Amino acid sequence: MPKHLLSIADLSRREISELIAEAIELKHKGPSSLLAGKTLALMFEKPSLRTRVSFEMAMRQLGGDAIYLSPAEVGLGKRESIPDVARVLSRYVNAIAARTFSQDTLEVMAKYASIPVVNALSDLEHPCQALADLLTICEKKGPLKGVTLAYIGDGNNVANSLLLAAALTGVNSRIASPEGYAIQDRIRLLAEGYARESGAKIIYTVDPQMAAQGADVLYTDVWTSMGQEAEAAERRRVFAGYRIDSKLLSQAKKDVILMHPLPAHRGEEVADGILDSPQSAVFDQAENRLHIQKVLLARLLG
Ligand code: CP
Ligand code: NVA
Repeated sequence: MPKHLLSIADLSRREISELIAEAIELKHKGPSSLLAGKTLALMFEKPSLRTRVSFEMAMRQLGGDAIYLSPAEVGLGKRESIPDVARVLSRYVNAIAARTFSQDTLEVMAKYASIPVVNALSDLEHPCQALADLLTICEKKGPLKGVTLAYIGDGNNVANSLLLAAALTGVNSRIASPEGYAIQDRIRLLAEGYARESGAKIIYTVDPQMAAQGADVLYTDVWTSMGQEAEAAERRRVFAGYRIDSKLLSQAKKDVILMHPLPAHRGEEVADGILDSPQSAVFDQAENRLHIQKVLLARLLG
């Protein structure tokens, strides 16, 4: 395992497969004392429900502890420099999970921390989400290789990590985003390299209907991510044709599953009610954050 998890690209295909296999096994086991005496600092520049609670519960269920530092308390780079925060926390706790605006903040933190740093979402990536997503797909669809996932929406942090994770593990991706909101070239290039090795096929399009055709998994995320609130009205206009509704759902396979990292803006990226339909996997997906992070923490700290 790498020391830090800042990007899905920090993991190999084998490491991802092992994490998923261990999470499936661990799901049926009770609490343990594997991380007794260990503490995780959760340092968040943005709000969170799932990430914060799943990391805190993961530490508790493994016999360890967690300390949450809210956006107001942190003042990263304002009250105190990022290197100093990293160095000080390294004297108190055993790992840091940080949710930041900039990926650079995480990189600097990892450089100066003597303990593991985990990306709990940045503007560039959300690797813990992508791992939970693969675990969910694996549980619902069996072996990942050859599964076809259609991502409809913004080429954002969630999309970046999901595409990289899919390309690494042989999941075919069809990404439908409006012009100007596609996944950035650097991530595409990386994903294409992984896909050549895993055999995954990747298609980029502006046409959500085309992307959804015959898909095993339909995935979407909010049109306006945290920090982009000023663009919300413009984004609602641009993304209006990219809502997952019953028509788009009917293009996919009959046994398609619907995925979303949550929080959802019901009525925007998903028609209201769709997240409550039998095809929706979103709450299993949310639960799986806990299981995959337990395995991840055990590996990084155990
Ligand atoms: N999916 C996810 O990361 O949710 P939170 O923003 O609530 O942590
Ligand atoms: N793309 C979203 C994901 C939230 C879990 C955001 O960054 O706000």
